[in-house]
Amino acid sequence: SIRPLIAPSILSADFSRLGEETRAVAEAGGDWIHLDVMDGHFVPNITFGPPVVKALRPHTTKFFDVHLMIAPADPYLAAFAEAGADGITVHVEAGPHIHRSLQTIRALGKRAGVALNPGTPAAMVEPLLDIADLVLVMTVNPGFGGQSFLASALETVARVRALVAGRDIRIEVDGGIDATTVEAAARAGADVFVAGNAVFKDGPASYAERIAAIRSGA
Ligand code: DX5
Ligand code: ZN
Repeated sequence: SIRPLIAPSILSADFSRLGEETRAVAEAGGDWIHLDVMDGHFVPNITFGPPVVKALRPHTTKFFDVHLMIAPADPYLAAFAEAGADGITVHVEAGPHIHRSLQTIRALGKRAGVALNPGTPAAMVEPLLDIADLVLVMTVNPGFGGQSFLASALETVARVRALVAGRDIRIEVDGGIDATTVEAAARAGADVFVAGNAVFKDGPASYAERIAAIRSGA
């Protein structure tokens, strides 16, 4: 089966040292770097935009997994691609033209992701499977790090896994993933695991130890 990937989310990093933090989790064995972009409109928090993605790009060659929690998303896709995103994920709830957003991301030469909030059914991705490289299933309501994993989202992961069947599409879970919740998410069919607090805020262990602990359950 496909190698599970761990994607540390720098939302939980020290924002005054984002470059160092990005480099540190890359060197500690993180597979992807997850970058959470929030607009204070689609979600009740504001983070950063393309200039920060661009500033971080020289710090690692790892895959930049840019999670857009913004509405509208389409006007900014080219800017995130130019800033150094490798994959760009747009929420199905963020506008009426998710299919067009995914087409645009592919046309920019990037991996196209579609995200589902916890209240959104798996079936929403069914018409998108020919144009998506990744489905992100939120396992918390988006907006903040450090929230509790929603076990109800496991059913959505399992349904997405069934819909995806044999296609070359990654299934990512995001929110409340740690060494204890990762196993259920993996069993349901996820193969990319975002982790914010569990990497950056969880006790005295090193980043490498925390990433390894998550990987051992994945
Ligand atoms: C939440 C973000 C997540 C967040 C996860 O809205 O999309 O990527 O960083 O943080 P943890 O792992 O702490 O729940
Ligand atoms: Zn995220």
